[in-house]
Amino acid sequence: MKKRVLVTEQFPSSIIQFLEQEVEVEYWGKPDQMPRELLLKKAVNIHGLITGKDQIDQALIEASPKLEVVSNVSVGYDNFDVEAIKNAKLLATHTPYVLDETVADLIFGLIIATSRRITELDQYVKQGKWKFSLDKTLFGTDVHHKKLGIIGMGRIGEKVARRARLGFEMEVAYFNRHRKQNVEKDLNIRYEEMDALLESSDFILLLTPLTKETYHLIGADCFHKMKKTAFFINAGRGPVVDEKALVEALRQNEIAGAGLDVFEQEPTDPNNPLLQMKNVVTLPHTASATMETRNQMKWFAAKNMLQGLKGEKPDALIKELQ
Ligand code: DGY
Repeated sequence: MKKRVLVTEQFPSSIIQFLEQEVEVEYWGKPDQMPRELLLKKAVNIHGLITGKDQIDQALIEASPKLEVVSNVSVGYDNFDVEAIKNAKLLATHTPYVLDETVADLIFGLIIATSRRITELDQYVKQGKWKFSLDKTLFGTDVHHKKLGIIGMGRIGEKVARRARLGFEMEVAYFNRHRKQNVEKDLNIRYEEMDALLESSDFILLLTPLTKETYHLIGADCFHKMKKTAFFINAGRGPVVDEKALVEALRQNEIAGAGLDVFEQEPTDPNNPLLQMKNVVTLPHTASATMETRNQMKWFAAKNMLQGLKGEKPDALIKELQ
């Protein structure tokens, strides 16, 4: 009998058909998240779950006695309770590599949109406010030759650093748990302690994954240290930042602006004060969301799933299981 896989992310029919050659597929197919109660009910009978946002925790694991593989359509897997997954001896996979360039492109979009005020000026033109020459109160800030400080130097950070160095001739420093001397040499960038990086960067880019250790890593004390002219960009995970402290820093003009692809709660509350601020560019967690890349991520997640269910080692097991 074929094993059974529940897919709670939206997938193209070609990938569903690919899966169906080997397994029985139950496909949710709706743009909104499967309600938790329904997921727990469906979980009773599944051997595999392809997901992106569902919490894979003790309760889900207990509700799914046949579960063997959970495959996330995402590089981040903060929705996985890794300890519970390990104890239950499940395989857990994610989709690294295929999104690195796409996310790096979007990050540069955020850097430029905030500093050159692109979304604000787009509204200025569309609202018919463009009458004569642009008043200097609407001028932006240069990106080229400025200093970019990256917190969390993984593969995506490297792609951003490459764009910054080669395309924009920026000075680049990074802070990371481990030094990456090969990258320092290759791109001519340098390692700095967190405080030094916060105090001296014109753009501070946060790319750290969300873990117990990184929750609220960036709080009021960090914003106090940043230059008043600095732009803060978050394309990692929202809860790594104390969002209340960010709002306060922006209200007090402690920093010049922010570019945010991620929020403490997603989707963010429409009353979030950040959404009212002209100097904040907001996106709906869209960094990897191009047709090409999301498609590749879904193929990758499907292949990981089938490899795991066949008893092979999936190409992208999460690092804690390797
Ligand atoms: C990821 O893959 O973790 C990204 O945040 C999704 O866009």
